[in-house]
Amino acid sequence: MTSTRLARTALVILALSMTAVAARAAPPLAPLPPIPEPPDNRTTRAKVELGKLLFFDARLSGDASVSCADCHHPTQGWGIAEPISRGYPGAVHWRNSHTAVNTAYLAKLFWQGDAGSLEAQAEAAATGAVAGNGANDVMEARLRQTPDYIRMFREAFGTVLPQINDAWYAIAAFEREALTQKDSPLDRYLKGDKRALSASALKGKQLFEGKAGCLECHNGPLLTDQKFYNLGVPRPKEFEETGLNQVTVRWQFYQKGSREQMYRDGKDDAGLFFSTARVKDAGKFRTAPLRYIKFTAPYMHAGQFLTLEEVVDFYDQGGGENEFTKRFGNKAKALKPLKLAKDEKEALVAFLEELSGEEIRMTPPQVPKYGVASDVPGLTQAKAKRIGLETYLSTTGRK
Ligand code: HEC
Ligand code: HEC
Repeated sequence: MTSTRLARTALVILALSMTAVAARAAPPLAPLPPIPEPPDNRTTRAKVELGKLLFFDARLSGDASVSCADCHHPTQGWGIAEPISRGYPGAVHWRNSHTAVNTAYLAKLFWQGDAGSLEAQAEAAATGAVAGNGANDVMEARLRQTPDYIRMFREAFGTVLPQINDAWYAIAAFEREALTQKDSPLDRYLKGDKRALSASALKGKQLFEGKAGCLECHNGPLLTDQKFYNLGVPRPKEFEETGLNQVTVRWQFYQKGSREQMYRDGKDDAGLFFSTARVKDAGKFRTAPLRYIKFTAPYMHAGQFLTLEEVVDFYDQGGGENEFTKRFGNKAKALKPLKLAKDEKEALVAFLEELSGEEIRMTPPQVPKYGVASDVPGLTQAKAKRIGLETYLSTTGRK
């Protein structure tokens, strides 16, 4: 190697290690920025109004009995106040129902991070077998049989008749616009109101960013790096004790394409492993965003902890152990016993609660009724197609 090449190599190594150092410094806490609007789904009032009705409308499920709001209830933190979510009738879910609040900002949705947008997420929820279990064509037919929806979809998307894909777009627009809480004590504090946080929360903030090491993963405006870790959260007892939960666990292993051995031996939720098929990812879940958590107990991917105090105790002990940390040694390196004093734990909890802001309240709206189209004498399917839907609708007196 010539000396210039040597020097160049040394420079490259230096630059690389500097980037590594820079990458390690966690982004600071920050107020929430303006609500994002994807270019293909600009937020409009017509979409938000329609999305609100659809969010509360059980038509968007298999047997028209479960709406998004049934698992993301306004009075239960826009989630479900139970460790593991209810499921589609006859089934239970296997994970804790997230809050739908502030999801506008997330790039990776679900505990496993396997949906990339609110639009894609809404469809996955309404069609997933243990959630909405709906068939797209049937749900679309229901919307097309509802005069108010025909009008509202037309206003929001300019279509003659409702298209199911637009339903997911409207729901996403509603979630962005109506389910964002940007005015928490933390936001006010970070914008300069130094009295916005209580003395205890302020002390908690210092611990969060310092001695307790929380900022390493819970950072930036959403308090998540959107990366995945195995904290050694214990296996939910329901997986062991309840038949209906075991059905879902077995089905999830099968449906998510786990390996034969994992299918036979696996007893716990392998999280990110189901997306990557790498054993080092087994038991890893997305760092939870910590906003609105005052209203979203219980905590962790299967609601393993009922209170924030329990969560803080868990971290104080340096996290835990589960099937995957034991088999694959993949517990998050950042976790170690913290030896927090009682008042320090209380301060951390106070800080966590002041990340939430006011509760977002909403009275469930009345969803529109089905309409009956009058018979059109002599109208066959072929003829309806030929004359076009516009004409068909005007003949049936619906325009
Ligand atoms: C039967 C219960 C159920 C129904 C119905 C349901 N969800 Fe969910 N939802 C859940 C559960 C459980 C999770 C977490 C699942 C996971 O991560 O694997 C979740 C996750 C989410 C998330 C992800 C939040 C995050 O932090 O990543 C959003 C957003 C969401 N649901 C919106 C909806 C919408 C919109 C609908 C209606 C189209 C809906 N849900 C219907 C139970 C449900
Ligand atoms: C190594 C990264 C990491 C560190 C450090 C960390 N967390 Fe977490 N946190 C996570 C992950 C990942 C989850 C979700 C884990 C799961 O469900 O299995 C989580 C979940 C939580 C939850 C539950 C949120 C919910 O909606 O269920 C709270 C509260 C929380 N962390 C607070 C803290 C506090 C307080 C600290 C510091 C004492 C801390 N975390 C340190 C990664 C981390």
